[in-house]
Amino acid sequence: MTKLSVNINKFATLRNSRGGNNPDVVKAAVDAQQFGADGVTVHPRPDERHIRYNDVREIKKIITTEFNIEGNCTEQKFVDLVLEVKPNQVTLVPDALGQLTSDHGWDTVKNKNYLIDIIKVFKNAGIRVSIFIDPVIEMIEGAAATGTDRVELYTEAYASHYKNGERDTAVKPYVDAAKKVKELGMGLNAGHDLDLNNLKFFKQNIPWLDEVSIGHALICDALYFGFENTIQLYKRQLM
Ligand code: PXP
Repeated sequence: MTKLSVNINKFATLRNSRGGNNPDVVKAAVDAQQFGADGVTVHPRPDERHIRYNDVREIKKIITTEFNIEGNCTEQKFVDLVLEVKPNQVTLVPDALGQLTSDHGWDTVKNKNYLIDIIKVFKNAGIRVSIFIDPVIEMIEGAAATGTDRVELYTEAYASHYKNGERDTAVKPYVDAAKKVKELGMGLNAGHDLDLNNLKFFKQNIPWLDEVSIGHALICDALYFGFENTIQLYKRQLM
């Protein structure tokens, strides 16, 4: 089974645009799980421009499904928050400060020693670790050497090629990467730009995928189809 983790950052973006507490981000997390999501993802950034650190604390108190916090672990504030909140999983992303959205994976070769040390910090606290990487064999071999439990494949390139009608070309590097991940004994997540059009084909080609983390497209679809219905539509793509 591939789990659907719903990234609820966009609820916070909408809330922050007006001040106040509408929509309520904690309620969004509870609703997501009630509507069938297997997990909730948040991506707090140091400037707190969408999810705030306090949202993360409040969500942890109340949700019962898998909680995944993703973010830039070179920020001490992020590391402290994760260690305080103790989610089920932390996904380490090499974001720059002020970046619009994540746009590349770790260079696991160059950052090997750094990653070994930081992964140990989270694993010693009982938190499963996933690291965000591009579908490149060398990066996957590098990831295996860091001690990470899982990798999350950055799927932007898949999504953009898929959109151009190049489905087989789009998925090929991901299938090769996913085989290597499995061979090296790591768990496998994927995320970024996955949507109702491209998700099913991805899953069909990589049935051993453990989890997808989806935010932007799912929340956009929810504007038209409703949050509950949309979560069910995405879950159906993963069957
Ligand atoms: N995975 C990571 C590491 C991300 O940074 C993001 C975006 O916050 C996602 C998955 C979800 O991407 P999208 O919003 O395009 O579904």
